[in-house]
Amino acid sequence: MSYYEIQGGRPLFGRLSIHGAKNSVLPILAACLLAPGQSVLHNCPDLSDVAATLDILRLLGCRVEREGGAVTVDASALGRADIPEHLMREMRSSVIFLGALLARLGEAELSYPGGCELGPRPIDLHLAALRALGAEILEEQGALRCRRRNGAPWGREICLAIPSVGATENAMLAACGCPGLTTILGAAREPEIVDLQNFLRAMGAKVTGAGGSAISITGGAPLHPAEYRVMGDRIAAATYLCSAAVTEGEIEVDGIEPDTLTAVLACLEEAGCTLHTDPGRIVLACSAPLRGVRQVRTAPYPGFPTDAQAILMAALAGGEGATLFVENMFDSRYRHVDELRRMGADIQVAGRAAMVSGAGRLHGAAVRATDLRGGAALVVAGLGAEGTTQVSGLGHIRRGYERFPQNLRALGAEIREIPA
Ligand code: UD1
Repeated sequence: MSYYEIQGGRPLFGRLSIHGAKNSVLPILAACLLAPGQSVLHNCPDLSDVAATLDILRLLGCRVEREGGAVTVDASALGRADIPEHLMREMRSSVIFLGALLARLGEAELSYPGGCELGPRPIDLHLAALRALGAEILEEQGALRCRRRNGAPWGREICLAIPSVGATENAMLAACGCPGLTTILGAAREPEIVDLQNFLRAMGAKVTGAGGSAISITGGAPLHPAEYRVMGDRIAAATYLCSAAVTEGEIEVDGIEPDTLTAVLACLEEAGCTLHTDPGRIVLACSAPLRGVRQVRTAPYPGFPTDAQAILMAALAGGEGATLFVENMFDSRYRHVDELRRMGADIQVAGRAAMVSGAGRLHGAAVRATDLRGGAALVVAGLGAEGTTQVSGLGHIRRGYERFPQNLRALGAEIREIPA
């Protein structure tokens, strides 16, 4: 089994361009299905989740090509509307194809996305939204068969009980195929949803309101392919910033809008980092061990992102002072805690709360990633720790970070991948 070997304590210095956002590019790739013809996406990150999405597009009949960061998807000839189980299992977010296939073909057949590392992740809100749009959905033996009901009234109001990112995106995609006006109330407000709206508009769709909690879509008109640049990955940016902070370095990250990271930047500032932001750019400098932060409560955007919880926790665990984390989004999102404890972290978990008492510099250990962001957190901890850290479970990390060890090395880290 391959692993990263990290010699901790090397301060990170330099400049890094942040790759395209995983959570943006996945729904945008699914949106390419909405129009026949060739769409081109720039800044498309080279991640295993993206590769799995491209495999699904190919299987559905798209011609897909990648040249550097540009991916071309030609959705002229779709041959099928079903996605087999082995591809659905690769990635929970493949459920986004439901809305896109319904909009383009009026039917979709997917297996239920399997269990996930963050605890139960239901898709009831996705299905309720699509049903409200007039889809008939049969759930049998782990399969979902969906079709547009003949004569069903299209276009209406959807009210999401929780501002689910995936359900909002699925509803937006499906509504593009529904004649009439659809309004999504209680929509998630994440920047990736604004990015999806911008791509849909580039395809000719009439969508407004993303970034707020009411999104309106007037669907039914034919869309056309588009060329689009995917936004920068705010969680990857947060990971590199925490890496610089924990090593008491100074880095600049480009290709990222600071406004999309306000909650994370506020915590880093409170922890003692100096930050400078311009449009498209964040500079962080840190010259002392991180201090505790009053509270970090994960919440839907613009609150503190659950995806950055483990990463900031890893940075603060090796600092000084106490921080209370409260994870409000997912049930099982403290699986990195046991691994951080192996490195000397002092973290007490009680239900949704985790009290981190900064233990001073952590020490290297052999640890294992059990999920994507938890894995990135272990790398952050290893970069700041004394001695050698070995992080295994790299399959999780590759889902969301392009050229992770290479980028960190370019900033001065001592990290290498030891092949299996
Ligand atoms: C997306 C992100 C993920 C991030 C999460 C929350 C992608 C590919 N993934 O995941 O990185 O951690 O947003 O910011 O964009 N829920 C239901 N029923 C549903 C759907 C969701 O109860 O049908 C609940 C979930 O269990 C969770 C909450 O809603 O407690 C938020 O989940 P959601 O926003 O849907 O997350 P994802 O879209 O899966």
